[in-house]
Amino acid sequence: METLTTVAALRERVRAWQTEGLRVGFVPTMGFLHAGHGSLMALARPRCDRLVVSIFVNPLQFGPNEDLSRYPRDLAGDERLCAAEGVDVVFAPTDFYPPDRATTVAVAGLTEGLCGAARPGHFDGVTTVVARLFGVVQPQLAVFGEKDFQQLAVIRRMTTDLGLPVEIVGGPLIRDPDGLAMSSRNTYLSADERSRALSLSAALRAVVNAATAGERDVDTLRAAGRAALQVDRLDYFEIVDPGTLAPLATLDRPARVLVAGWIGRTRLIDNMAVPWI
Ligand code: PAJ
Repeated sequence: METLTTVAALRERVRAWQTEGLRVGFVPTMGFLHAGHGSLMALARPRCDRLVVSIFVNPLQFGPNEDLSRYPRDLAGDERLCAAEGVDVVFAPTDFYPPDRATTVAVAGLTEGLCGAARPGHFDGVTTVVARLFGVVQPQLAVFGEKDFQQLAVIRRMTTDLGLPVEIVGGPLIRDPDGLAMSSRNTYLSADERSRALSLSAALRAVVNAATAGERDVDTLRAAGRAALQVDRLDYFEIVDPGTLAPLATLDRPARVLVAGWIGRTRLIDNMAVPWI
């Protein structure tokens, strides 16, 4: 495994693979990697000949009062995890955008609710960086986690709309044994905050259980979930159509329940599939 830190070096490596006709797989990340990221690499590995993982804390997707400056970093630890997953190249650019960048990629509709409403401009930052990463890495396959369920939907839309020749694969959300969704941001949590953070997955589970027991009214389902939450501030708690992300009034199809909330200074997100039976 090697770590490349410039766009030029990465392009050169990719060009060599292309002349050999090798299939390139790609897992984009912002680093401080955990087993959730590792699971995406494990999904990609058998489906490609060469596997690239990018580590880039993308300033464009952070709002002015968000955690860009304190986002956790550990390149040595990240390299160890990538090596263990059989990654060929870690792409950790120090400079990624042209200094005179003038292009923004924006997906309408899907980005308007949920995290898009709570974090204006966030998804434009995500689609702009992922489009450029796809341009530089030129993967045949890219893997994204269902942890960021809306992000996965937005990336699929962008890839289809721009006709990008990349197969998008979604990987399941990986949790700690106590149910907390793995996240690089969990490192911000104190012991007390971490125990309150467990209320996110507990609230989602309450909705899934009520749905499994036959409850169909979405207001009732949401109330069951919200009662379990111990967040300091709630951004949203929604039950949506998993394709359009539009809120449902009645559980009349398989759905997704998603939550975003603040525990102290830390914003956490989580989601689960809601069965329709
Ligand atoms: P980051 O938060 O580092 O996540 C990178 C990828 O790992 C995303 O596809 C995310 O959904 C996935 N992931 C994170 N935690 C996970 C978990 N517990 N289980 C499964 N997958 C998990 O998402 C980003 O970075 C950025 O927005 C990025 C796409 C890299 C663009 O900058």
